[in-house]
Amino acid sequence: MSYNNLIYTIEDRVNTISINRPDKLNALNIETFSEIDHAIKSSVSNPEVRLIIITGVGDKAFVAGADIKEFVNFTMEQGFELSESGHKILTETIENCPKPIIAAINGYALGGGLEIAMACHLRVASENSKMGLPEVSLGVIPGYGGTQRLAQLIGKGRALDMIMTGKMIDAEKALDYGLINYKTSPEQLMIFTKELTEKILSNSSNAIKHAIKSVNANYQDGLNGFEIEMNEFGKCFETKEFVEGTSAFLNKRKPDFN
Ligand code: COA
Repeated sequence: MSYNNLIYTIEDRVNTISINRPDKLNALNIETFSEIDHAIKSSVSNPEVRLIIITGVGDKAFVAGADIKEFVNFTMEQGFELSESGHKILTETIENCPKPIIAAINGYALGGGLEIAMACHLRVASENSKMGLPEVSLGVIPGYGGTQRLAQLIGKGRALDMIMTGKMIDAEKALDYGLINYKTSPEQLMIFTKELTEKILSNSSNAIKHAIKSVNANYQDGLNGFEIEMNEFGKCFETKEFVEGTSAFLNKRKPDFN
């Protein structure tokens, strides 16, 4: 399938989804987030894909937020529906994806852009990145999970500081806060992200799927993360990848999960 707002590529088991509206700093209109949802779902069902990278086209922005022009005249009901669809077809799809998703942040990650990045399982940012949730400067609040995931990642005090001031932080500060996992130079961003990808792909993708589900369970209402972990742990046994991983260890060789 071809997309109007994304570049979708698959290479060496890695699907890269590049958000492609550089003249609008990759601002997220509704069509774009439906396309991201579609792209992720097709990668989930594609056995050739084991890992997904989300990034932005150009050297200025990952995503500079939801497309402000699109919601400027919305009513309260439309505002609620926008937030609901942002949760259901964007950030929840990313967070609950059974294949690892890495955000390669290559510039501004603001509002919905930072919310996408926070829903990803890992975040790598280039030194020129700026991250923030500036929504209160527009008279609105973060609506794609930002009020929840920012506090989960960096703590309530820092999250409220960033949300109430609307300030942007750089990659150095984001690393210090634990908002990102790694910081690189702009030139190294995709090279480093690919290396990270290879490290993850050398492990059992089946086990990683169960680990993602278990970690996420702690943040989902009505679920007991410890119980989920027991179930997911049990499901790893008797699998081909478990047999390969354990027999490789016992035979003093590297496992081959391909
Ligand atoms: N929604 C819609 N369009 C956006 C956008 C957004 N979130 N962010 C940037 N753009 C558009 C601009 O309107 C401009 O389009 P134009 O050339 O047709 O006027 C283009 O992208 C370039 O942006 P510009 O503001 O000229 O770039 P800049 O380098 O001067 O500033 C930012 C960069 C990121 C500081 C600034 O664009 C900005 O503050 N964007 C909004 C961020 C935001 O509030 N996000 C949360 C939304 S809920």
